[in-house]
Formats: sequence, C-alpha cells, structure tokens
Amino acid sequence: MLMWFLGLVIFVSRTECYFAEEKYPEESKMQPPSVVIAIIARNAAHSLPYYLGALENLNYPKSRISVWAATDHNLDNTTAMLREWLTVVQKHYHYVEWRPLDQPPSYAGELGPKHWPNSRYEYVMKLKQAALNFARKRWADYIMFADTDNIVTNPDTLNLMIAENKSVIAPMLDSPGAYSNYWCGITPQGYYRRTAEYFPTRHRHRLGCFPVPMVHSTVLLDLRKQGMKELAFYPPHADYSWPYDDIIVFAFSCRAADIQMYLCNKERYGYLNVPAKPHHTLEDDRLNFVHVHLESIVEGPRMHPSRFVHMFPKQRDLMGFDEIYLINLRRRADRRERMLLSLNELEVDVKVVDAVDGNALNSSDIKLLGVDLLPGYFDPYSGRTLTKGEVGCFLSHYFIWKEMVDQQLDKALVFEDDVRFQANFKRRVLRLMEEVEKAKLDWDIIYLGRKQVNPGKEEEVENVHNLVTADYSYWTLSYAISLQGAQKLLNAEPLSKMLPVDEFLPIMYDKHPSEAHKAHYPNRNLQAFSTSPLLVQPCHYAGDPAWVSDTETSTLWDDDAVRTDWRGSQKTLKGAAQQPEMLSNAYKDEL
Ligand SMILES: *[C@@H]1O[C@H](CO)[C@@H](O)[C@H](O)[C@H]1NC(C)=O
Ligand SMILES: *[C@@H]1O[C@H](CO)[C@@H](O)[C@H](O)[C@H]1NC(C)=O
Ligand SMILES: *[C@@H]1O[C@H](CO)[C@@H](O)[C@H](O)[C@H]1NC(C)=O
Repeated sequence: MLMWFLGLVIFVSRTECYFAEEKYPEESKMQPPSVVIAIIARNAAHSLPYYLGALENLNYPKSRISVWAATDHNLDNTTAMLREWLTVVQKHYHYVEWRPLDQPPSYAGELGPKHWPNSRYEYVMKLKQAALNFARKRWADYIMFADTDNIVTNPDTLNLMIAENKSVIAPMLDSPGAYSNYWCGITPQGYYRRTAEYFPTRHRHRLGCFPVPMVHSTVLLDLRKQGMKELAFYPPHADYSWPYDDIIVFAFSCRAADIQMYLCNKERYGYLNVPAKPHHTLEDDRLNFVHVHLESIVEGPRMHPSRFVHMFPKQRDLMGFDEIYLINLRRRADRRERMLLSLNELEVDVKVVDAVDGNALNSSDIKLLGVDLLPGYFDPYSGRTLTKGEVGCFLSHYFIWKEMVDQQLDKALVFEDDVRFQANFKRRVLRLMEEVEKAKLDWDIIYLGRKQVNPGKEEEVENVHNLVTADYSYWTLSYAISLQGAQKLLNAEPLSKMLPVDEFLPIMYDKHPSEAHKAHYPNRNLQAFSTSPLLVQPCHYAGDPAWVSDTETSTLWDDDAVRTDWRGSQKTLKGAAQQPEMLSNAYKDEL
C-alpha cells in the first residue's frame, strides 16, 4: 500500500518535470481582418495625390487590403494619375481590381462636371454596388468607401473604426465650415434635417460614436455582421420613394435592414471638400480643395501627397504687387513653415523677412536704435506700457516700409505669420486690386486682416466691392501698402515716439480715440481702408489652447525683469463679429 502510494508520487513528479522542460510554441497571432478599399474617382486630379498619399499612410498591412478602383467620365488627368499610382503600389496590396473607362467624358444630360443628373446618380450607385459585390465575393471582412476628395490624414483611422465594432461607421471628417459627412436628422421624405445635435457634434463639444440616420463619403462596412447581406446601393429598395441619390438610397437600405449607422468624432481623422454647386467648374472645385488643404495645414493632421504620383510644382506669383513680405521670428519655425506651405498652395510668392526679436533686445539695444516711448503711452485696457515684443513688431514693420521707400516699390503686401486665409483668398485679392485700380482710389493702406475695435458699420467705398474706409482697428495681420503710404509712415518719424504699430496706424489715419497720442503726430492723412469681409483671420485667438503671442507675452520694453502676459487684454480677445465661421457664411452667399 505504501509502496504503491510512493510509486504514484514519483510518477506524478516525473510527469511535472517532463512538462516543465518541454517548450510548446505559442499560438501565432491573428492577422488583421481583410479590407477592400473602394476608390471611385472622377475629375479628381487636384485631390488625388493627397487622397492616395493618405491611403498609403494608413497604419494597416497592405497585404490585408484589396483595392477596387474605378474611374470614368473624366475631363482631367485622373485616369493617368490613378494608373501611375496603381502600377507602382499594386504589388504591395493583396489584390487590385482596376476599371478605367475613358469614354465618354460626361454623363447624358449633364450641364457640367459638377452637375448631378439622375443618370450620374444611377451610375455611381451601380459602381458602389459592384464594389460591394466584389468585396462579398472575395469574402472580405470589411469594405471602406472613401470619396476621392476625402483625405483621411489620421493614419490610425481604419484601426480606430474597426475597433468600434459597428456594422456601418464613419469617421467625422472636417472642413473649414459646417459641412461634414453625416446628418443628425432626416425628414420623412428622406431629406436633410438640421437638428440640435449637429453643431455640438461637428465642433466636438460632445465626443463619441453616435447613432445617426446618415453617414456618407467615407464609410466602413463590417461585412461579417449578419444583417449586412441585405444592404444595397443598387437597385434601390422595393419600397424606395426618397430622392434618387446614392447616399440616401444606402441610408434607406440600412434602415430597411434594421442596421444602425454610426458617426465617430473622438479624434481628427481627416478632411473633406465642400461639395461644389452644379454650375461650378473644375477650377472652382480645385480652389475649394485648396481651402480645405489650408485648414489641414493649420489644424492637422496634415495632408501629404503620394510619392508615386507625379505633381507639377506650383506656379507662384506676386498677385500684381512689387513685393510680398512675410514677417517671421526666426525662432518661430513652425509658423514660418505653416505660412510657406499655405502660400505655396495659394500659389503666392513671398519674401520672408526676419522679424526683429523683441525678446532678444535688451533695453540698451533698444535705446541705441533710437527707440523711445511715446510720452504717456499706456495700453488703454491693461494700463501697461510697451513690451519688447511690441517694439520688435513695430521695428519689423518699419523696416519693410523703409525698404519699400529705398527701393521705390509701388505697392507691397505684408503678412504676419499667424494667419488663416479665407476661402478664395487669391482670387479675392486679385479682384480687389483690379477694382481699386479701375476706381483710381487714392489709397495708402488696405487691411486684409485686423480687428475692428468698435463694432458698427464703416463707410463703403464706391465702385469697389467689399471695401470700407477703416475705422479704429487693432492688429496688423495683413495689409497692402502703397509707396505713398510707406513714405507717410516714415515721415512721421515714429521710432522716437513709439507705441504699438497697431495703435500707430489708426493715429496716422486719424481714427485713434486719444487726442494726447495724436498730438505727437500732426500729419494724420493716411488713406486707410479695409476689406469687408476680411480676407485673413488669426490662426489662434487669445485663450485658445494653441495661442502664443510674441507681442503680448513678453517683457516690458525698458525693464528686462518684468514679464507680461496679457491674456485677458481686450486687444487679443476674439470679437464676436470676427469669428471665422460667421465669415465663411458671409462668403458662401457671395460665391
Ligand atoms: C497626367 O498624369 C500623368 C501621371 O501622373 C503625368 O505623367 C502627366 O504628366 C500628367 N499630364 C498632365 C497634362 O497633367
Ligand atoms: C462585436 O459585436 C458583435 C455583435 O455584432 C458581438 O457579438 C461581438 O462580441 C463584439 N465583439 C467585441 C470584441 O466586442
Ligand atoms: C545688451 O546686449 C548687447 C548685445 O546684444 C550687449 O553688448 C550689451 O552689453 C547688453 N546690455 C546690457 C545692459 O545687458
């Protein structure tokens, strides 16, 4: 009995030994789910390099992605560009299906490339259905539809959407205005309905993945979920009575199959172009896209073009000015880069001038330059005196005026480096200067970006659209200046009686409220105007998380020890009348 018991113990312990020494391989990892990306491209030459660049950058193994790409009815170079890209990249993807159709270049009944007759809707529905059929036939786990003017700049987007485990889900895409790729409401007839949730969602005041009645443009479908078999783009559901439009047909199909669409806005995923109006040309569409691109440069994540598509360098020019200056502090390379990228997209040439770094000047340097404070100057709101940043800023502008006069430049344009451009910036500047010329307007400076101090109507200039006589204004974000204007500013000899440059200018056009300050400048005959609406805005306002001002956050001009931080100052706060959104609405009506 005892022997038997011992034997068992020995046997057991030997077995344990045996297991402990042997190494079994771990189960190998799962491959990510397989995904089909459906590309349906038409007249997309302006956005394709960025679209394809974003697809390449997705953090997802290309061996688990098949590409289904169709293009047709093109007036531009879309087919050649897509072909060029696919030729290079196809070896990396699991499989590529390529369906180019060279003729015809337009749809029956189409009034222009941005017009959507029913024949076009029907064709797009059929294409989307063909992509869906392809994905089903190949037993793909997911299919992602992404319009070619939707640039998914966040490389984790696909993973993030998959992780949500929804049947139909879209990443919320940003645009410079209110537009995005979802609806929060739908009418009983299948039309768009604006609801209270739209803006809080759009502005990310509420974050999450929300059930919505419509997502479109960039959408991920999980084909493994059972109900998905019933979804279709074409033919529309037997009970379909809503508008004949591929996105509405699909939303109806989801509803009929009891499948909920979801929209996710937890992160920034990318950008989409605002749809063109039916009468728009391809050039209008391209300019809209440039505006979206600028938004991505300011807000990020940025767009990067594919390395595998040929791009012609931009043809930049001076928009009829003799020089365009960009004032940039050498140590603010981030702003310089942002401005140069933006101006390149706008095809505007610019000369970067190193701003005088106020913070690098000590008080004895400042005296040596002949700078002295305007007697009795205090900031009207904060009561502080001049900062070194303000001295540097003044000198930077002053040296530009001086160069203009030295070189006898007829007219120049000046930018500071924290500027956000309004839609169609270049076209608007060209039109403005043309009208100014035609009207033979006697002008010295024209603000393109400023802060109007006192809200209220300013006098409109006759025969020039969107131009007013400038009232008291702050900021010198951007302005056009004539040789005569530069000469007047130099003649005033402002260095020896300095105040901030954006207080000096209103004195010179005699709209400054302080009689005491004005008394130091007897010739206040500057002819100052402003575009209305403004053509540029600051990128960041005081109080925004990303806001840093080099003039307002600085040290006092004559005391290196006193740091200033005037985040509450009236001068830097956002004025209600100048919120970019309201401006973009004003532009919309005009376009
Ligand atoms: C069209 O695209 C191809 C491929 O990217 C390029 O080689 C060609 O130069 C382009 N042609 C025009 C007119 O843009
Ligand atoms: C994903 O959703 C399905 C239902 O559609 C559910 O059965 C499954 O457990 C979910 N997976 C995860 C990881 O939550
Ligand atoms: C101010 O800076 C200059 C160099 O820029 C230096 O020569 C000078 O000694 C400094 N003066 C004081 C008071 O620190």
